[in-house]
Amino acid sequence: MEKYVVVLAAGKGTRMKSKLYKVLHKVCGKTMVEHVVDAARGVNPAEVVTIVGTGAEDVKKVLADKSKFAFQEKQLGTGDAVMTAREELGDKDGATLVVTGDTPLFTTATFDELFKYHAEKGNAATVLTAEAPNPFGYGRIIRDDQGNVLRIVEQKDGKPEELKVKEINTGVFCFDNKKLFEALKHVNNDNAQSEYYLTDVLEILRNAGERVGAYKMPDFSESLGVNDRIALAQATKTMQRRINEQHMRDGVSFVDPDTAYIDADVKIGNDTVIEGNVVIKGNTEIGSDCYITNGSRIVDSKIGNNVTITSSTIEESEMDDNTDIGPNSHLRPKAIIRKGAHIGNFVEVKKAEIGENTKVGHLTYVGDATLGKDINIGCGTIFSNYDGVKKFHTNVGDHAFIGAGSTLIAPINVADHAFIAADTTVTKDVNKYDMAIGRGRQVNKPDYWHKLPLSQDKDWD
Ligand code: UD1
Ligand code: CA
Repeated sequence: MEKYVVVLAAGKGTRMKSKLYKVLHKVCGKTMVEHVVDAARGVNPAEVVTIVGTGAEDVKKVLADKSKFAFQEKQLGTGDAVMTAREELGDKDGATLVVTGDTPLFTTATFDELFKYHAEKGNAATVLTAEAPNPFGYGRIIRDDQGNVLRIVEQKDGKPEELKVKEINTGVFCFDNKKLFEALKHVNNDNAQSEYYLTDVLEILRNAGERVGAYKMPDFSESLGVNDRIALAQATKTMQRRINEQHMRDGVSFVDPDTAYIDADVKIGNDTVIEGNVVIKGNTEIGSDCYITNGSRIVDSKIGNNVTITSSTIEESEMDDNTDIGPNSHLRPKAIIRKGAHIGNFVEVKKAEIGENTKVGHLTYVGDATLGKDINIGCGTIFSNYDGVKKFHTNVGDHAFIGAGSTLIAPINVADHAFIAADTTVTKDVNKYDMAIGRGRQVNKPDYWHKLPLSQDKDWD
């Protein structure tokens, strides 16, 4: 039987109090609606239709070709939202999974089980339910004495007796597709919120003599619906635990998994060790046998094998195998650290390639530069790349030696095997095997101490 998926993502999300449209809030670096769509695509549906409304263009951009879209002009309720998919899906034979776009924790496995249960029972509608520790805000599942599902009652419509029920509507349903769209025609908005509720379809189908049921999940945590920032933080915590546990199963060690914040799409090789208070975000790939200490933050970067990152920040950069950085250094966008290179402490690198086995040990700024291999950059070297208007480039050849405290004023070329004496301000190109020295000459004045004001009131030997 063909499967279809409808994702509801047209609501504004008033309770988030946000400029950002609700389903675009991120959980571990990925928007909620992408989490939902990705999990739903795991069931191999023939089609996924996402209902968009407020912020439609932004949602479409995020999902791109992962989904088709239907436009809900006014947010008249979840039932009206599903109805907008009618043109796309209305006449299809099959089973349709309906999911709300603000429930980011559902897994493909759960959707698969729901489909299976729905088919086994021969239901026209099956709602996925869970026992909520605090059911406030969710629709409640109302059953008769035999346990048959009668209907779903929303928080704002429930009688006190009904609101005591802890079994909730997770917002996920499986429907016989044609019966769903037929029943939707009969949904009205005669309720506390004057909305067309999808949840009413259950009672409508039941009254029409169709089989209606519920599949109860063993664990509530997957079904958390995110309506406010408190739930957003809870969802993030649950998702983070899930992500880190998967990495651990794949051979990554965490010293304190509770404080390692790893985004959903990050890849990490085995035998890498991650200490507490580490943040790894976005489209980042980390190799095997790396060691990443507390306080490190790595964003959209590619890290090779056997790399040590000590309390440093790395953004949109690359570190090849057998490199190291830190403590307290910063790779800004487009820093490329080639094999075996060493970036020590308090070093900032921006838009620069550091060649193989080159060492930049201490207190240095390298910006807009190409460095060859086996170079030593002395402490406190400054690549002066900016005249206030434009940026200029510096080249340093293989085996060059840049003495401590030097300033290289770009544009400048320092050839292979060039030697820059310490504290030189380099303003002219330096040829191969040459030494450049450009510093104020030192003058020593004998016995000058006694002429200084500070010597006056005392008798010095
Ligand atoms: C809904 C369910 C509730 C369930 C809960 C689970 C209804 C009437 N209520 O309540 O039983 O326990 O989800 O999380 O279905 N949306 C649209 N168009 C609309 C209205 C909503 O696309 O006109 C989308 C929203 O973007 C959201 C989803 O539907 O992604 C759910 O809407 P929301 O307002 O959050 O419903 P809840 O009050 O949480
Ligand atoms: Ca919700």
